[in-house]
Amino acid sequence: MTADAPEGRAGAGICGPSATLTRCYWQARYDQGQTGWDRGGASPTLLRWLAAGDLKACRILVPGCGRGHEVVALAKAGFDVTGIDFAPAAVAAVQAQLASEGLIAEVAQSDLFAYQPDQPFEAIYEQTCLCALPPEQWAGYEQRLAMWLSPGGRLFAAFMQTDSADGPPFACPPDAMRRLFAADRWEWPDRLEPQEHPTGLVELTGVLRRR
Ligand SMILES: C[S@@+](CC[C@H](N)C(=O)[O-])C[C@H]1O[C@@H](n2cnc3c(N)ncnc32)[C@H](O)[C@@H]1O
Repeated sequence: MTADAPEGRAGAGICGPSATLTRCYWQARYDQGQTGWDRGGASPTLLRWLAAGDLKACRILVPGCGRGHEVVALAKAGFDVTGIDFAPAAVAAVQAQLASEGLIAEVAQSDLFAYQPDQPFEAIYEQTCLCALPPEQWAGYEQRLAMWLSPGGRLFAAFMQTDSADGPPFACPPDAMRRLFAADRWEWPDRLEPQEHPTGLVELTGVLRRR
């Protein structure tokens, strides 16, 4: 996310100097074309999980979906997919992509801390949403992920790795993730696999199961 803008400054003029990480801040990132996290297509790891049958058609949520390349890929693969994002530009972009390909998915323009689905999900795909949230919101986000998933549901996750103390993206090292997604609530895979991120950073990817 650092590739094309000094973090924390985008949108400051429009949203106010203390407005980092608000809806206005993220909307300004889209308006100003400062979206260096965007691959322009679905993540290779998601495509690999789909091709290998590790992730099969089900009811799935993509929080902080951005322009929604993964929402589109999942809809194309026959999933009952819901994307959430609070930036109107992101929601409009997903809807336009879906419409241009004749695909159907639910896209909710909502703050994820206010989002209440009618039914739980069997899976969640988390990519670059956790690391976009201020760390003081992480415990609340983990609680929501756990609440949104059915027992036994799976969290397909990409955890951002960075040495920078500033964010976004905020560093999600494995030890901190194991504390956040604690063993009493989450079953962890034996290992996490690296994936390159468009910013030049690396994400560690893996599938956690909600107990
Ligand atoms: C770094 S972008 C990643 C987008 C997408 N996951 C991707 O990898 O291309 C983070 C996204 O999360 C959204 N977001 C951040 N905080 C949010 C919140 N509290 N509620 C809903 N969306 C949020 C932003 O609007 C932005 O689109």
